[in-house]
Amino acid sequence: MIGIFDSGIGGLTVARELMRQIPEAGIIYFGDTARYPYGNKSKQTIERYALQDAHFLISQGAKIIVVACNTASALAIDALQAEISLPLFEVITPAVEKAVRVTASKNVGVIGTRGTVNSSIYASKIHDIDPQIKVASQACPLFVPLVEEGWLRRPETKKIVRAYLAPLKAQGIDTLILGCTHYPLLKSQIQEKIGRRVKLVDSAEEVVSRIVEYIKNNPAIKNQITGQSRFYLSDVSSHTEGIASKWLGRAVKFEQAVVE
Ligand code: DGL
Repeated sequence: MIGIFDSGIGGLTVARELMRQIPEAGIIYFGDTARYPYGNKSKQTIERYALQDAHFLISQGAKIIVVACNTASALAIDALQAEISLPLFEVITPAVEKAVRVTASKNVGVIGTRGTVNSSIYASKIHDIDPQIKVASQACPLFVPLVEEGWLRRPETKKIVRAYLAPLKAQGIDTLILGCTHYPLLKSQIQEKIGRRVKLVDSAEEVVSRIVEYIKNNPAIKNQITGQSRFYLSDVSSHTEGIASKWLGRAVKFEQAVVE
């Protein structure tokens, strides 16, 4: 089974991509809705939560762990790598490598939660590869609640998208990393406001491409990643089930998980 964890249901964008690119895989999804959101919390707290989340997935039979949450990938990856011996995938490195490959003007934008943006992890990983690249970052804390309310096409949302992206547009970026689980659901609105010429890098797509590559190079893992998909939350409500089914395009039944 492939285990995916996130602070909530946003990581279903990674699950959706996984179902598209690796339909034979069985998924164990865990969304930490009881302690959601992670985006504004401290590194110490995120590390503790992320370790508990990963251990829960392992206890359920996961053989690969995917950190779908950008905030957890930004703040807890070292702690996870130190403790988890299974193949571990985070969403930041694949997106960074893609952005570095596709930028022509060496002018890249990053949007994410406050936690992700304040960690400066994208800029630092981009500069490890190419110190010439200019990186402009913007925290967009209102995007997550708007997406969860289903306000994808409202005029209010379009205005907020425009306001957040204006400084990045003024910098003349040619590539924009969507550094948060929820942002792929706002892709067309973001593309419209940032301009057609700016390439969007979707971290969900990129991380799943890495997993595909890993499975190709490690065929022995193939028969360990199949099985019946299961979806767990630390707090189950009918509201989340409704949104999740809409995002995944199929009915999702969540089970309650106790994670501590
Ligand atoms: N999953 C988080 C992320 O990708 C967004 C929601 C939150 O703040 O927990 O950064």
